[in-house]
Amino acid sequence: MAGIKWIGSNPENPFKHNLPRASALTVLNDPVTKLPVAVMDGTVISAMRTGAATGVAAKYLARENSSVLCLIGAGVQNRTQMKAVLAVCPNVSEVFVYDIDFGRAQKFAEETSASENIKVTPLKEAKEGVCKADVIVTATMATAPIVEKDWIQDGCFFANVAGYEYTFDALKSADKIVVDRFSEIIHRKHSTLALMVIEGLLSEKDVYASLGEVVNKKKQGRETPEERIYFNSVGMGIEDIAIAARIYREAKKSGLGVELSLWENPLWI
Ligand SMILES: NC(=O)c1ccc[n+]([C@@H]2O[C@H](COP(=O)([O-])OP(=O)(O)OC[C@H]3O[C@@H](n4cnc5c(N)ncnc54)[C@H](O)[C@@H]3O)[C@@H](O)[C@H]2O)c1
Repeated sequence: MAGIKWIGSNPENPFKHNLPRASALTVLNDPVTKLPVAVMDGTVISAMRTGAATGVAAKYLARENSSVLCLIGAGVQNRTQMKAVLAVCPNVSEVFVYDIDFGRAQKFAEETSASENIKVTPLKEAKEGVCKADVIVTATMATAPIVEKDWIQDGCFFANVAGYEYTFDALKSADKIVVDRFSEIIHRKHSTLALMVIEGLLSEKDVYASLGEVVNKKKQGRETPEERIYFNSVGMGIEDIAIAARIYREAKKSGLGVELSLWENPLWI
């Protein structure tokens, strides 16, 4: 299947319009004729695949006995990040959530503690949760770093899902740097890793592996309980299209959806 995800983003949406920040529209195209075969919402797919990528990373890179998860950012992404981490780290029994807007953290804690049946504590200070965490996920709209090196415990798996959320020192303290796709991270110029590469403080050779290399056993994942492992995802379009294609095929099988005609007949051939 071929396709595209077109994503719109307005960070003010949750605050001014009671709408999600991001909305996505996915168009799938037949791999042979390249004609469009489906137009569908991509918002949920996008959030789920972003969570899933961190979930896969946590499966290979977090300590098996991880018990405390700290989420930085109480938005849409951290809801699916939380679901995915809980799916692969069954010993997690406590979750902390910090947001610059404490009301968002409180609402997130209330809703997710009920939906995931786990203790979720909203925080006014990020440090309080980060210091205790075995797994950290940052998914915010921050433009200045939040998480500092000395707050991160040895053995921690810390995921940078959005932009400049870790200090340069925090990233430098990682024993392993794992990415979804390095070239895209640099193209986006957004995350702590990208900014450090742009400033010449790190280069591609400092990246230990891509997540694909770890999953395919070309590189080992976690090797010791003490390792600090940093994971940076920028998101890959293929994840959206693969999931959308599966949903499209399932929908066709179940007779769901509405048939639309592109045209009665093509005007010219
Ligand atoms: N890596 C990927 O594949 C991928 C995919 C989708 C989104 N993202 C990124 O994830 C981030 C979050 O997206 P979302 O949909 O959850 O957005 P959202 O608007 O739903 O949530 C973002 C939250 O961050 C909070 N925030 C803003 N500045 C902060 C700060 N300095 N400290 C703490 N909290 C702060 C906001 O109050 C808000 O609650 C975005 O930057 C987006 O680009 C990454």
